[in-house]
Amino acid sequence: MPLKRKIRELQEKREQVLKGGGDKAIEKQVAMGKLTARERIISLLDEDSFNEYDLFVEHEARDFDMDKKTLHGDGVIIGTGTIYGAPICVFAQDFTVAGGSLGLMHSRKITKIMDHALKMRVPLVGINDSGGARIQEGVNSLAGYGEIFFRNTLNSGVIPQISVILGPCAGGAVYSPALTDFVFVVDKISKMFITGPEVIKTVLGEEISMEDLGGAKVHSEISGNAHFYATSEQECFDQIKKLITFIPWNNRQKAKAFEPKEPNPKFKIDKIVPGDPTLPYDVRNVIRAIVDDSDFFEIQELWATNIVIGFGRMAGRTIGFVANQPLVLAGVLDVDSSDKAARFIRFCDAFNIPIVTLVDLPGYLPGVDQEHAGVIRHGAKVLYAYSEATVPKITVIIRKAYGGGYIAMNSRHLRADFVFAWPGAEIAVMGPEGAANIIFRREINEAEDPEKVRYQKVKEYKDKFANPYVAAAKGYIDSVIEPGETRTLLLHAIEVSDNKAVSGPRKKHGIPPF
Ligand code: HXC
Repeated sequence: MPLKRKIRELQEKREQVLKGGGDKAIEKQVAMGKLTARERIISLLDEDSFNEYDLFVEHEARDFDMDKKTLHGDGVIIGTGTIYGAPICVFAQDFTVAGGSLGLMHSRKITKIMDHALKMRVPLVGINDSGGARIQEGVNSLAGYGEIFFRNTLNSGVIPQISVILGPCAGGAVYSPALTDFVFVVDKISKMFITGPEVIKTVLGEEISMEDLGGAKVHSEISGNAHFYATSEQECFDQIKKLITFIPWNNRQKAKAFEPKEPNPKFKIDKIVPGDPTLPYDVRNVIRAIVDDSDFFEIQELWATNIVIGFGRMAGRTIGFVANQPLVLAGVLDVDSSDKAARFIRFCDAFNIPIVTLVDLPGYLPGVDQEHAGVIRHGAKVLYAYSEATVPKITVIIRKAYGGGYIAMNSRHLRADFVFAWPGAEIAVMGPEGAANIIFRREINEAEDPEKVRYQKVKEYKDKFANPYVAAAKGYIDSVIEPGETRTLLLHAIEVSDNKAVSGPRKKHGIPPF
């Protein structure tokens, strides 16, 4: 056959495969307000940068009449491309082909691109839109998932792994995302659950919609499984692109540096925190007053909002911020906020991103619910994550730093490299009211005017401990600083920490309180 005809044959074969599950299935996909798998990849990557592999892979299943079915590309697209010039490995499940269900060859395509990402040390983006294990392929589908989960774990901490949920992801389809670093969801399109509404109805007799069971809002606000929430697929891709600019390609590199910029002067750092320590404020404005261009890229914005995490830049370099949020529950640490902070700290540590911690909290949240939900175990994750982290770690105590909260929020004792405190900082075992009620209980109870004595004792305690100078006198904090000096000192601290090198005792790995 002349080469020309062979080329024509190739073109025809390509055209066939590019039809995915066919016109009807594509129409259904579009009617649901969803892009097709290829459109998604094209929208995410730099123009003309996508190269697809394994286009002609076919399934090998024989049971349940599968031998009579052609599943183009076996329901998943894999390839490489770039985002703002950064190399990316990508896969996108094609729901138009057997509901994006995962059979053996489908899984082999995914593991191939995962292995490639690890070998080339570049980020992996997985676009998930799948009915889960392909039922007709039995244990082969389960084997496929196992191979993916194993690689997710192997890749963890070596390359960034990003998951996008763009359809009903059921069963095994949600565990790979759960093992990755960042999960993106889109309103009305994303659904994640282990067992769907039909199974729940059969087993438990309860009726629930897919949306209420595991929609984008549920996972962004309640379960905490999602890190970024968008209202459209395009907004979601823009968020991923922005995230890629903040993180390095792998754990041997630092994130790309950008042109340094000054913060927007409308964020006046000395005007944000109220003088009255009982009044709240939005700590994100403190971060905006510190970071380049006041550009703070928040992560898990809608979940466990008593803590704020995210990326910003200082002198053009990526910094991870962890900050108590006095607007919500006075910024306490609880089960969810501990999980949120600990995981982010570990991401920053794995990928060479310095951490700045802003402290203003009355401590861990008391109560039966929290105790029974395991606040001891979850809270310990924060202690573990900060203690373990060896990237530059800098703390600014803005206001309250009481009890376990003081220790947990990157104190000197967990090996903070620099600890600064604003003059309004209060560092003590507990708040003055609680402390006075305990240590002066007898004097208060036996007094002729208990309220007067309580007031005096609270004041006495406040005068003694509700300030930064006791900790400063012991060297637990390095400097008491004016709010207006914060950015300059942080820039300096980051600059002089650039070559930080510490090493702990040899071990296989620690055992964090997962
Ligand atoms: C094979 C599947 C499939 C699956 C969907 N399809 N899921 N084929 N295996 N798991 C096929 C459908 O038969 C249909 O084929 C096409 O995909 C589109 O599916 P629809 O049901 O028409 O779409 P929709 O109404 O949008 O519903 C989507 C859905 C539903 C909610 C995902 O299909 C569903 O509930 N699927 C099963 C989900 C599930 O229970 N998965 C768990 C598997 S067990 P045709 O030919 O008609 O177009 C698992 C265990 C792994 O994953 C555990 C690892 C830890």
